[in-house]
Amino acid sequence: MTDESPSRLTSDDHLGRVLLSEEQLAQRIIEIGEQVTEDYAGRRPLLVCVLRGAYAFCTELAFSIDLPVEIDFIAVSSYGSSTRTSGVVRLVKDLDVDLSGRDVILVEDIVDTGLTLRYLRRSLEARGPASLEVCTLLARESADLEGLGVRYVGFTIPGDFVVGFGLDAAERYRNLRYLAVYEPEDH
Ligand code: IMP
Repeated sequence: MTDESPSRLTSDDHLGRVLLSEEQLAQRIIEIGEQVTEDYAGRRPLLVCVLRGAYAFCTELAFSIDLPVEIDFIAVSSYGSSTRTSGVVRLVKDLDVDLSGRDVILVEDIVDTGLTLRYLRRSLEARGPASLEVCTLLARESADLEGLGVRYVGFTIPGDFVVGFGLDAAERYRNLRYLAVYEPEDH
């Protein structure tokens, strides 16, 4: 399927231009998976998927890693139903797996202000993992990736709010296979 014009299901005034196509996403995720496979050779990394936005990325990433990975899920909330961060991060669902001694890769959808990541890092580091790295599909150009200790980045993008491939606006559009710019009401 290469036709990425909005379909009957997703056709919507709020969907703007396609930012990253299904093919671009797939290709880049394969590259990251190969890098992780090389970096973690001989180890059994634990992918910590940050719900809900990272679910699609984490699924594809896991398929692209040629190692016996484990996957667990954590959920935080900072946006509510708005497209602007509330400034407060809340743990909505915690992990089931014990992190002590584990090689943890935190899998994020997008690093924007870095608030969520700072919160998660503090929370996970306190549990004594052997190592903790961050892998994000997207990062804003404005994000201080070095300061936040982000090791793997899929794409750096400008400030537009984006939806699709797991990312939502008020819980919509997560099931698009591509990433599109979200056009708010008063656009
Ligand atoms: P931060 O805490 O400001 O870095 O925001 C990170 C979280 O905000 C992400 O994990 C997303 O859930 C959400 N977010 C930030 N920008 C976008 C966007 O453009 N589309 C959808 N969600 C976003």
